[in-house]
Amino acid sequence: ASYITVNISSPNTKNLRQLQGESELDALLGQLKARQAQLADKHGRYVPITLKIAPDLDDAQITNIADALRRHRIDAVIATNTTLARDKVQGIKYGDQQGGLSGAPLFEASTAVVAALAKALQNELPIIAAGGVLNGRQARAKLEAGAKLVQLYSGLVYRGPALVRESVAETRDFA
Ligand SMILES: Cc1cc2nc3c(=O)[nH]c(=O)nc-3n(C[C@H](O)[C@H](O)[C@H](O)COP(=O)(O)O)c2cc1C
Repeated sequence: ASYITVNISSPNTKNLRQLQGESELDALLGQLKARQAQLADKHGRYVPITLKIAPDLDDAQITNIADALRRHRIDAVIATNTTLARDKVQGIKYGDQQGGLSGAPLFEASTAVVAALAKALQNELPIIAAGGVLNGRQARAKLEAGAKLVQLYSGLVYRGPALVRESVAETRDFA
């Protein structure tokens, strides 16, 4: 693998998101970094580790996570996974179903997490944005919020590969 994502933010696994709590996260990241170093020695190849977080976090939780990422020298952070929130889909058919909600209704909350992380991380490690990118303008908004890379998931279902071209075109001149 070119890099490994540690997903502690899926809404579909019971108690998984508790790993985002301070002491649990500290223990997890410490063990992952130790193993990463051992394996790098053994195989002569350093494989970066990224941590993927939820959009349903408040500023204090984001600050704690950012501090842990810096302390443990994690290589990058992916913001965000799907959301448990339903405020953007109230009254819509299937809007009350359980599980992680992705795509357009996620864009705002997910981008806010990117911005809060950027403030807390002070460029010490790169942010990879995911969440609700349905057009090139939104890909650019992720970079403006502080992301270095953008991932596309649900948008590909609705827009197909044209979304990639459009996102590249909209972000090419981003300084
Ligand atoms: C059907 C589905 C399955 C997903 N499975 C995973 C998964 O196994 N691991 C993970 O980290 N994220 C998973 N995600 C989250 C996506 O990788 C992405 O973070 C999220 O959907 C937000 O991006 P989007 O709005 O562009 O879809 C899944 C999302 C969807 C819709």
